[in-house]
Amino acid sequence: MSELSPADLAKDASARAAVALVQDGMRLGLGTGSTAVFMVERLAERVRAEGLRLRLAATSRATADHAGRLGLKVEELDEIGWLDLTIDGADEIDPDLNLIKGGGGALLREKITAAASDRMVVIADPGKVVETLGAFHLPVEVIGFGLETTRIHIQRLLDAQGLSHRPMLLRQRDDKVFCTDEGHVILDLSLENIHDPARLAAGLAAIPGVVEHGLFLGMAELALIGSPDGSVIELRREVSE
Ligand code: A5P
Repeated sequence: MSELSPADLAKDASARAAVALVQDGMRLGLGTGSTAVFMVERLAERVRAEGLRLRLAATSRATADHAGRLGLKVEELDEIGWLDLTIDGADEIDPDLNLIKGGGGALLREKITAAASDRMVVIADPGKVVETLGAFHLPVEVIGFGLETTRIHIQRLLDAQGLSHRPMLLRQRDDKVFCTDEGHVILDLSLENIHDPARLAAGLAAIPGVVEHGLFLGMAELALIGSPDGSVIELRREVSE
């Protein structure tokens, strides 16, 4: 018996597979988004059933609140210092396990947390797997001061890199400008095809008003892609010696 939609069944399958990787004593980063919601719920079930002793850091206030409601103790990342594993969702996953993230607006804390983890495992439904990144908008977290000049810098960068793009949108939520957990705003870039993600990432990172962007390159080592029937496909990143 299930009231979950096929997409939610797929998310739940990937979340279960990721939570199965968790071992007693681990320091874990908890991702953000609708797939991560399933992961936190499955994790709380295991903690209750098995008495796992974990140290947990959340990638957003929303995730910290959700985990807290389920009885999980969440600490600040700095209290833990370094993590064994971060489990997080993604908006797009390419064959090299490069990602677009930030659809939920938590990309900055997500990237800091993933970068402070020995391993990053991505959980997603099959709709997130793409050949080339870019159909999903690329979120860029920017400082409010000088927003228009930052927008011009980004536009020039996209033009210089031959990236076709539509006007970038200042993210809104509930008819207001969306504000991130760190008090910044997000510009969503509509690009059709990011043919050189590393070059774009470097260019964006060099713009003074840009705090962080949603390209997560070379960070994930495993993606668990769930299906509505409960099966899970593992995609691994080839790591060169
Ligand atoms: C949050 O900022 C995002 O990076 C999410 O991890 C990403 O948008 C995936 O979210 P869903 O699991 O809801 O698709």
